[in-house]
Amino acid sequence: MVTKKMADAINEQMIREIYSAYLYMSMSAFSSDMGLKGFANWLMVQYHEEMYHGMKMYEYLQSQGVAPRIKKIDEPPAEWSTPLDMFQEVLKHERKVTAWINELMDIAHEEKDYASQIFIQWYVTEQIEEEENANDIISRIELTKESPQALMMLDKELEARIVKIPIDFSKGLSAAESQN
Ligand code: FEO
Repeated sequence: MVTKKMADAINEQMIREIYSAYLYMSMSAFSSDMGLKGFANWLMVQYHEEMYHGMKMYEYLQSQGVAPRIKKIDEPPAEWSTPLDMFQEVLKHERKVTAWINELMDIAHEEKDYASQIFIQWYVTEQIEEEENANDIISRIELTKESPQALMMLDKELEARIVKIPIDFSKGLSAAESQN
């Protein structure tokens, strides 16, 4: 059983994960509009990743006897000046998420909540990959040195990313994970 403080903090982070999904969906729409279909694909795959991050928290709360509270999601920005600017925003956002995850872990330690510590550890590891992905794409965009041809090649590469996590949660996460 989680404490109210822990449950509220996880619920808050669940909403932030769904906001992250919104942010990436907005970036995907913007990329599509710029004709960068590969960027749009990569970012829409990221949308699914974020919904999965949120759903894991949703189900964890339920497993602890807490009903998740579905709250308002803020409107994300809709435009960026360049693909580089957009991915710098991705990195900034992911660093913020890492800080929030660390705060969650701090609360789990304060509350001596060992189950939540194990649960949150998954996100600590995940954030290493999230920041690494953003850093990697920033370096690649910088390498294009604003050459449209090089940018289109990178776009082609980003088109290859596919969804590797469950996306249908109607029968619960375990059922979705076993089908993947
Ligand atoms: Fe759910 Fe991108 O962190």
